[in-house]
Formats: sequence, C-alpha cells, structure tokens
Amino acid sequence: MRLSVPPEHVEIQLGERSYPIWIGSGLLGDPSNYLALPAAATALIVTNTTVAPLYAATLRAALAGRFREVHVLELPDGEAHKDWQTLNLIFDALLSHGSDRKTVLFALGGGVVGDMTGFAAASYMRGVPFVQVPTTLLAQVDSSVGGKTAINHPLGKNMIGAFYQPQLVLCDLATLATLPPRELSAGLAEIIKYGPIYDMDFLAWIESHIDALVAREPVALAHAVKRSCEIKAAVVGQDERETGLRAILNFGHTFGHAIESGLGYGEWLHGEAVGCGMVMAAHLSERLGGIDAAFVQRLTALIRRAGLPVVAPALGAERYLELMRIDKKSEAGEIRFVVLDKPGSAIMRGAPDAMVREVLAQCCAA
Ligand code: NAD
Ligand code: GLY
Repeated sequence: MRLSVPPEHVEIQLGERSYPIWIGSGLLGDPSNYLALPAAATALIVTNTTVAPLYAATLRAALAGRFREVHVLELPDGEAHKDWQTLNLIFDALLSHGSDRKTVLFALGGGVVGDMTGFAAASYMRGVPFVQVPTTLLAQVDSSVGGKTAINHPLGKNMIGAFYQPQLVLCDLATLATLPPRELSAGLAEIIKYGPIYDMDFLAWIESHIDALVAREPVALAHAVKRSCEIKAAVVGQDERETGLRAILNFGHTFGHAIESGLGYGEWLHGEAVGCGMVMAAHLSERLGGIDAAFVQRLTALIRRAGLPVVAPALGAERYLELMRIDKKSEAGEIRFVVLDKPGSAIMRGAPDAMVREVLAQCCAA
C-alpha cells in the first residue's frame, strides 16, 4: 500500500524548547528534513529488532551526509524490555562509540523505543539532543510528542523518567503500512481519547471515519495524526510538566496502567489497555454525574469498532486498587482518576473505593 499526502506541520510552543512535528509520507528518508538539527559529528539511531530491518538503512542513508558517523543500535523488541537493563544498552553504545555531548540520538520505532531513547538522551552527559521518528500510530499521535520519557519498574509503569523535549518529530505516515492490525488499533485508542477529553467535533469525525482509519485510508490517517498532534501540542504548550491540565491526556490510563502491570507488561498492548481503561473511566464518570449512560455506550461502541477490547481482565478488585495506588497521579495513597465532567471536558479527581469497586464489577470479565 502507498500512502501519499503532502507534508504538513504542527508547532509545539515551549519557548526555547519549541519544535516542529512534521507529518507526511516518506519523510524519514529525506535528508533535507535533518538540515536544521544542531551541528554534530555523530548520530546514534536507536531502534529495535523489528523496525531496524524495515527502516534503519533508509534513515541511516538520509543522515550520512549530515553526520561523519552514524551508528545503529537494535534493542530487543517489546514493552517487557522497557527497563534498566535495556536502557543501559543505549549508554553502552554511546560510550563505546566515544559519543560526545553533541551526539544526536534518533528514536526510530514505537513508543517503547521513543520513551527509552528520550530518557537516555535526557541523562547521557546530562542531556544530548534527540529526534523522534515514530513508526507506530500510537507514537505518532501521542508518545513522540510532549517530552515524557520513561522506563517501567516491575512495581509500576513509567515510574522512572524525565521530561525532556526532542528537537524534532518526524511522523512518516508511510511507515504505518507495515504496522500489524493489532498495533494500528492500539494507536486508534489514543486518537479516540482526544475526543471525549477535548474536542467533541473530532470525536464525531472519528466516528464517521473509523472504518477508513482501520482500513488505513491515507487522507483519514493524515488528518487523525495532525488533529491529535494539534490537541496534544495545545495541552502540552499550556502545561509541559503536568501540574494541572496535562493530566487530562491520561484519560483511561489509571485503569489501563493497572491492566498492563497486573497482567505483566506486553500481555495487553498499551493502547488496548488505554482503550478498555477509557470504557472503565467513562463508567466512573457516569457514576460521578459527568456524563450519561448514552455517552458511555457511544464511547464504548467506538472503542469496539476500533478493534479494541472493552471488557477488562479479571485481576480482582483489591489487586486493581493496589495497582492503581502506585499511579503517578496518586497523592498520599489516594487514587486520582481522570474523568469526564461533561462530554468534551475532563478533570482529575478522587472517587470512593466503593464506587471504583462497582465500576470494576461492571467492567471486568466474570
Ligand atoms: P511499541 O513501541 O512496543 O511498538 C509496537 C510494536 O510495533 C513493536 O513490536 C514494534 O517493534 C512494532 N513496530 C513499530 N513500528 C512498526 C512498523 N512501522 N511496522 C511494523 N512494526 C512496527 O508500542 P507503542 O504502542 O508504539 O508504544 C507504547 C509505549 O508508549 C508504552 O510503553 C507507553 O507507555 C508509551 N507511551 C508513552 C507516551 C509518552 O507521552 N511518552 C504516551 C503514550 C504511550
Ligand atoms: N500521554 C500522556 C502525556 O503525554 O501527558
């Protein structure tokens, strides 16, 4: 399949840390996209064993005229490898190549590669420049934008990390052609998220284009990626370090992170857990009076049409509560949920454990 749409861009406005997000087909192989990067002798492309055979040679060739040395590091693939041991492979590569503090890191892959490369860039020599080249739908619409970087801890998801912005994000839509269908659906979860929390017109647009998105229709995908990046840029531009507003981007994530860590990282995809977590958060929002049952059903139907699970795994209510207390939004042991206070608007608040147990009873498999 060929995806061909003219490139467009979204600017993320963060003062001296501002950067462009370019969206289009064939971007990663075009050397002109890298001309504005800071001058440096060496580059390290961090990717994984799945993405490297598909795209690393193209990126490397595009960078060859810009850097004297371009190295490629292939990490093991998967959420289960988003850990200290794998992160250390990036530092091993940087040090063994004699990389200096101007070395530019390129994150070529999905959110796992992007989050780990970003964290390595934030930490190596106290900070080196990095570029996000996201190759999953999820990474193009969410994880590559906004500067959250992290690794997982066995006791909690994304618990160790830093805010560190890239120099540039290149969303090459052509890379989505090789994405497995399950991964495409996972990306749709984060696209759907932007509707109920921020933009009801976008939610209606997704509902009327969900079949086109699942079928990877190029114009529909390009619009979905661009609108998602615009919303994310608007939110992050107001609250880079999540002191308030940015938390709305975690709609569905408190339940979702519990599913991911409770089942073991990689069992459910992050986007699958977020999709199901949004169903659970919608039920909680209804119980708290923010939305009605019809809106819960509307959102659930869309998530199902995107090919995502809408019934949560039966981990047990106490285990869910235990896992959710480890969430970064928790304060003094109180779980704080992102809920809808009306369609198109979200807030963060606590909820009585008894109410959360009712939601779990309603949403989990028997
Ligand atoms: P992922 O990085 O594991 O990629 C999914 C799978 O697709 C992997 O097997 C990968 O090798 C493969 N892949 C990547 N690009 C491909 C392509 N073009 N063709 C074929 N296969 C390809 O998962 P993801 O869904 O991209 O990212 C999930 C991660 O992102 C989670 O760790 C999550 O916590 C994180 N995340 C971070 C943020 C943030 O703001 N930093 C936001 C959302 C999610
Ligand atoms: N994915 C949530 C955030 O970037 O804040």
